[in-house]
Amino acid sequence: MRILVISGPNLNLLGRREPGVYGQDTLADIHARLEGRAEELGCGVLTFQSNHEGALIDFLHAHIDDADGAILNPGGYTHTSVALRDAVAAMPFPVIEVHLSNVYAREEFRHHSLIAPVARGHIVGLGPYGYIAALEALIALRRS
Ligand code: DQA
Repeated sequence: MRILVISGPNLNLLGRREPGVYGQDTLADIHARLEGRAEELGCGVLTFQSNHEGALIDFLHAHIDDADGAILNPGGYTHTSVALRDAVAAMPFPVIEVHLSNVYAREEFRHHSLIAPVARGHIVGLGPYGYIAALEALIALRRS
């Protein structure tokens, strides 16, 4: 079983970027914890981050036939990208949208996600734990 973990723009700066909002953990820290949990659960994870909309779409397309699910934090593209939404809708596997911060407690423009209607689920505001929860949910869904 293979789960994709995809992070959009500016998430490469986690740990340095607005730590009051996003916390102190780096993306590498989040990935390491996720990989540890995935190993315990007997599942593989493949991580990817890009600041480019097309690269995120290309990565999804590249794995259309070899992934069982995806955890996606689209960053700012959450609120703007029809193209990324269409790519998520095209995937045959479930995609769970994750946001570190509680986007609903922030600026109005963050309250609307173009991705949410085509995602299998949506986790916000739980910090790095949201990724673990998404992984466990994808595995549970697959095995149920
Ligand atoms: C974010 C929330 C988005 O609104 C923002 O543009 C990000 C990070 C989050 O994880 O809380 O880049 O996706």
